[in-house]
Amino acid sequence: MAQDGSQQRGSGHDDRTPAQQASADATEAAAPYGGGSSGPKRVRTRHFAQAKRDGVKIVGLTSYDYLSAGIFDRAGIDFLLVGDSAGNTVFGYDTTLPVTVDELIPLTRAVARGAKRALVVADLPFGSYETNPREAVHTAIRFMKETGAHAVKLEGGERSAEQIRRIVEAGIPVMAHIGYTPQSEHGLGGHVIQARGDAGAEQLLRDAKAVEEAGAFAVVLEMVPSESARRVTEALTIPTISVGAGPHCDGQLLVWSDWAGFTSGRIPKFVKQYAQLAQTLEEAAVSFREDVASGSYPAPEHEYQ
Ligand code: KIV
Repeated sequence: MAQDGSQQRGSGHDDRTPAQQASADATEAAAPYGGGSSGPKRVRTRHFAQAKRDGVKIVGLTSYDYLSAGIFDRAGIDFLLVGDSAGNTVFGYDTTLPVTVDELIPLTRAVARGAKRALVVADLPFGSYETNPREAVHTAIRFMKETGAHAVKLEGGERSAEQIRRIVEAGIPVMAHIGYTPQSEHGLGGHVIQARGDAGAEQLLRDAKAVEEAGAFAVVLEMVPSESARRVTEALTIPTISVGAGPHCDGQLLVWSDWAGFTSGRIPKFVKQYAQLAQTLEEAAVSFREDVASGSYPAPEHEYQ
């Protein structure tokens, strides 16, 4: 996705024609009060809407730290989600339920520092928004004020619509998340595909329309049949982002550690692995251990004279 909605080729470098750049520049004035930076133009929520209108796919990855954020940003990934999946991938919990606002805030701050172009989305963790809209607004404001994120995400369709409405009214963009919602893992009876059958597909559509009506700028559809996702995608004006919801969605999002083969153990069927980082790192660590044991590291070129 290019910031003026045109297709961006290559690896994150701005190769738009001057006319495209000029039209993009014309729509965004210089930052007021001396704020902003001279880096690449930031992906905004309006570019999500434009991408859907133009049929340009939106691409997202999770990120939990400064270095990975910078790499994905330079690769042209459109948005980085600091997911509560950090509960599993960073903190080692069995589910996303235990992770807290205080644990996610420093990670989100690091990602926001590393991302010069990508839109950074902060995930509101379990227990930080469900009780009432006031609590939801309070948590969303904390993330925006303390991290530099550009939007927040929360789980739930009809049940979270009022929270979404109130956060959007406070000036904070919201990405919704329906279908399989990991924070409800126990209520849903485990990792179960959602929106199967007519009743399930109808409920997904009701949830999608509720979050669109509440003001969400995009909605994640997680682990639902492709056909249910297609119906939702066609019915909405906001983009749908697939996490295991098939090819008909307006964008795709993956958890980076699954996608890069950094996760050990089973990964979901919908993930395509683009690298095998766990194996690469383990082999590197074994080589390092063996080199130290044999005395071949450090070699003369690693010494100070
Ligand atoms: O926390 C996360 O990474 C997520 C995505 C899987 C959508 O919520």
